[in-house]
Amino acid sequence: MRRPVIAGNWKMHMTCAQSREFMEAFLPLIADTPDDRDLVLAPPFTALSTMAELSQNSRVCLSSQNVHWEGQGAFTGEISPAMLKEHGVTHTIVGHSEPRKYFSESDEQINHRARSSQSNGLIPIVCVGESDEQRERGEAERVIRRQIEQGLEGLDAEKLVVAYEPIWAIGTGKTCAAEEANRICGLIRSWVGSPDLVIQYGGSVKPSNIDELMGMSDIDGVLVGGASLEPESFGRIANYQSA
Ligand code: PGA
Repeated sequence: MRRPVIAGNWKMHMTCAQSREFMEAFLPLIADTPDDRDLVLAPPFTALSTMAELSQNSRVCLSSQNVHWEGQGAFTGEISPAMLKEHGVTHTIVGHSEPRKYFSESDEQINHRARSSQSNGLIPIVCVGESDEQRERGEAERVIRRQIEQGLEGLDAEKLVVAYEPIWAIGTGKTCAAEEANRICGLIRSWVGSPDLVIQYGGSVKPSNIDELMGMSDIDGVLVGGASLEPESFGRIANYQSA
């Protein structure tokens, strides 16, 4: 049985004070959220400690936005699994298209990050997805398959979330049609060969499209950027109703 995971990626937003304000408004909105789904928020590193305190005794699990594969060392700007676990972090986002694009993250590095997450008891949310140009050239499936094969090598599919995030849909307001997102998620499931793999869709998810997306047979959750910054909109997403 695949348990849906609704995750918010705050990216480089939210100070500690803003996180506090968010949680004060958000927690009452999820008081009656059905128990059949997991809720995850990925604040910036600086807000993790505050968020750990604010999410105590709540439904909210914490994710980091990165993790390194070494336990410690001379890796300026990186963060180790133990440092995250000290703050109650349970998930890590790896392979997001932003570090892939801005910092040239490779599938090999992403695989190291995901493996280090799993071997330290953290659940990696591994993001994959094609660019606009790749889709137009008819390469979407090939690109995603390569990301899956290289990025997921050696991982346990039952302690993993894959997020299908077409790059052209991220932060653009252009959501991928629910049927197409569902088709790609189904392909990913068949390539990985694990019926229990949890697969999210991400890219301009909002209150107006969440119910349709979550009604799809192969979409087991969402990874939300912009719409996770507002308590009301993320509250509505967390409280999705699927047919
Ligand atoms: P968006 O971002 O919801 O703002 O499109 C999604 C993501 O980057 O995970």
